[in-house]
Amino acid sequence: MTSPKPVSLVTGGASGIGAATVLALVEKGYVVYALDRDAAMLDVLPDCPDLHRVAVDVADEAALREAVSKLKAREGRLDAVAAVAGIGLTASLEETRPDDWDQVQRVNLRAIYLLGQMTAPLLEASGRGSFVAVASELGTVGHVGLAAYGAAKAGVINLVRVMALEYARRGVRFNAVAPGGVHTPMMEREQKRLGLTVDDAAHNIPMGRLAQPAEIASVIAFLLGKDASFVTGATWVADGGYTAG
Ligand SMILES: NC(=O)c1ccc[n+]([C@@H]2O[C@H](COP(=O)([O-])OP(=O)(O)OC[C@H]3O[C@@H](n4cnc5c(N)ncnc54)[C@H](O)[C@@H]3O)[C@@H](O)[C@H]2O)c1
Repeated sequence: MTSPKPVSLVTGGASGIGAATVLALVEKGYVVYALDRDAAMLDVLPDCPDLHRVAVDVADEAALREAVSKLKAREGRLDAVAAVAGIGLTASLEETRPDDWDQVQRVNLRAIYLLGQMTAPLLEASGRGSFVAVASELGTVGHVGLAAYGAAKAGVINLVRVMALEYARRGVRFNAVAPGGVHTPMMEREQKRLGLTVDDAAHNIPMGRLAQPAEIASVIAFLLGKDASFVTGATWVADGGYTAG
């Protein structure tokens, strides 16, 4: 049976920007599949009949394929995908170990290519499918200590452009959102590791503050929806002015 409601999939849906995206899409009337490797955090999401929790590591190709195929079997359709899952790595070029480099590329870039490839046929069948990948402002400018992370996020931006061109006449839009500093558990962890506070991260932001996750989720939800019907291959920066200077 095909779901009467639009169906969406959000990776990294248990925390931060992903969790805020899950809530924004539920509010907009989507059935939402929240995928995350952290089952305990998925349980913290509020109860809602249209919210389904799927514990999966997006870097595990077979497990990701199984999750998409179960969604297809259950709902019969997929209209919107938000690829939000990501991991941080702050390390100088000298300190970056090949295994850490590979893991950042697997989660932050390769999983998005795989998810795009796996879901594009369903999004095409939807007739108004939309895919949004979360990149970063740090994929548009260089930053000391972010070789692996910055390379992966820059890769996401160009991957989305290519996917957008290949599907431009097939009814599927692909876009990226490039957030600046956002107050999430990832931000808290990275700042603590560097011996800094979350407030320290706001100093270089022209608006003088970090974003709240909901301020990025609303951009993602807009790009996923029909109001963004002529936007494809774009990277929407939401960084409080960081890359404007
Ligand atoms: N917080 C920021 O300042 C900021 C800025 C720019 C971009 N981003 C990007 O936004 C995205 C979300 O970041 P956040 O700050 O909300 O982080 P977060 O750590 O709060 O949330 C990330 C979620 O992704 C999940 N995840 C990580 N690896 C996974 C995997 N292999 N499989 C499944 N789930 C996995 C985590 O369990 C977590 O629930 C990331 O791609 C991040 O790079 C964040």
